[in-house]
Amino acid sequence: MSQTVYPNYLDIIQNPDALRSWKDSLRSEPYRSYLYSYPHKTSYRKLETKLPLSELWDREPADTFFLYMHIPFCGARCGFCNLFTLPDKRADVHAEYVDALERQAAQWAPFIQNKPVARFAIGGGTPTLLEPVQLDRLFHIAQDVIGVDPGQASISVETSPETVTSERLTILKDRRVDRVSMGIQSFIASEADAIYRPQKPQEVERALEQLKRYQFPILNLDLIYGLPGQTLDSWLYSLDKALSYVPEEIFIYPLYTREHTIVKPEHIKQSGEDQRARFYSAAREYLLSHGYTQYSMRRFAKAEAGSGKTLLPYGCQEEGMIGLGCGARSYTRSVHYSSRYSVGRSATASIIADYVAAADYTHADYGIVLNKDDQRRRFILKALLHAEGLALSSYTERFTASALADYPELNLLVHTELAVIEHEVLRLTGEGLMYSDAIGDWFISPHIRGLMESCVLS
Ligand SMILES: C[S@@+](CC[C@H](N)C(=O)[O-])C[C@H]1O[C@@H](n2cnc3c(N)ncnc32)[C@H](O)[C@@H]1O
Ligand code: SF4
Repeated sequence: MSQTVYPNYLDIIQNPDALRSWKDSLRSEPYRSYLYSYPHKTSYRKLETKLPLSELWDREPADTFFLYMHIPFCGARCGFCNLFTLPDKRADVHAEYVDALERQAAQWAPFIQNKPVARFAIGGGTPTLLEPVQLDRLFHIAQDVIGVDPGQASISVETSPETVTSERLTILKDRRVDRVSMGIQSFIASEADAIYRPQKPQEVERALEQLKRYQFPILNLDLIYGLPGQTLDSWLYSLDKALSYVPEEIFIYPLYTREHTIVKPEHIKQSGEDQRARFYSAAREYLLSHGYTQYSMRRFAKAEAGSGKTLLPYGCQEEGMIGLGCGARSYTRSVHYSSRYSVGRSATASIIADYVAAADYTHADYGIVLNKDDQRRRFILKALLHAEGLALSSYTERFTASALADYPELNLLVHTELAVIEHEVLRLTGEGLMYSDAIGDWFISPHIRGLMESCVLS
């Protein structure tokens, strides 16, 4: 099915010059896009017919579900962020939003009662911007409306430094949260200023000290490299500072600029040069030498980190994802859906207002129906962009076909030493992991690329 896209992959493999130039072109733009999930949300469109969720979830084959709640509010919008979020601190607006989320949960609950929830995550936006009473309600909705068992599900919550208070952390602790993830980006005030993130290093340190006292099983910290004004020394300073709080997990992100972000591509270059690849390599070496294991281009964690609960199993393919709230995506095996997506303030406000005013949440009307090709590509990418790689037998089990026969162009990765095949696992090498974003982008199907390129964002 892919031969039309890569008609000459065999010619490339047989010609060393062509192979070198193929690899060079892949490496020339390593951070063109971050594939949070395949297919990207900019490929979603109004569905031809509204799909009843009762039918969609009834035929979902996943054994357990992942419940995600999206809280699309922040104190301010950071200059690099294109997530679905609105700068709005008003408590009454938040309360109405949680009311809507509870109505949506009550309507969805009957559709998803057949399988247990193995993972529950609250993200955003900034979920801990909510008043404690509303934050607690999210757990009530998960447990009492959807039926999440906090003794068996891993629970993760995103936070940001200025919203960390003992009252909120007590709620998270009482609700048996396993993982708290905090965005820091940089410990240097001028670097936070340069990305329009209103954050002071003292505030970050206060929040971290408070978080440490609560001893959540997993503390994750997010940092960004390639920030305007960042040097190798200042990047390693932020990394070192983060490690002084002994986080079980750390995510390092290259700075991405996107349409509608205040931070532009030219801001990334220091003295005319893009330093992100150099900063990544230095950070990787640093983290590996400090006892962290690399799980993907972004994720490093202590190998022994765990929640201490006996968790329900959940497949790494992230299917059966139930997304509650405006901006949350839901993934069934063949349909991905969500509310509409935007970055601009007025479009985001109007999408949230429609969500809050809605009476009926029982149909999917915006998203994508995955064809067979894109189901296969999704499966491959989900596994390949993680350090453990794609077990070729798992693909055969799922699709009764061979990944390398369906997508022979994957051999290009092996011939350029970006991947190896060992013990029947196709796995990225250290260099391949570093170019994960470019590899992910290269493997997007022509159908999805066409949709992404014709997406007009407001
Ligand atoms: C879901 S986001 C937000 C978490 C939280 N609201 C905060 O900012 O503290 C998770 C992480 O993605 C990363 N991120 C978001 N947009 C990015 C961008 N344009 N470039 C690099 N990293 C980005 C940031 O490290 C951020 O902490
Ligand atoms: S990075 Fe986090 S705090 Fe900043 S706007 Fe995005 S979601 Fe909000």
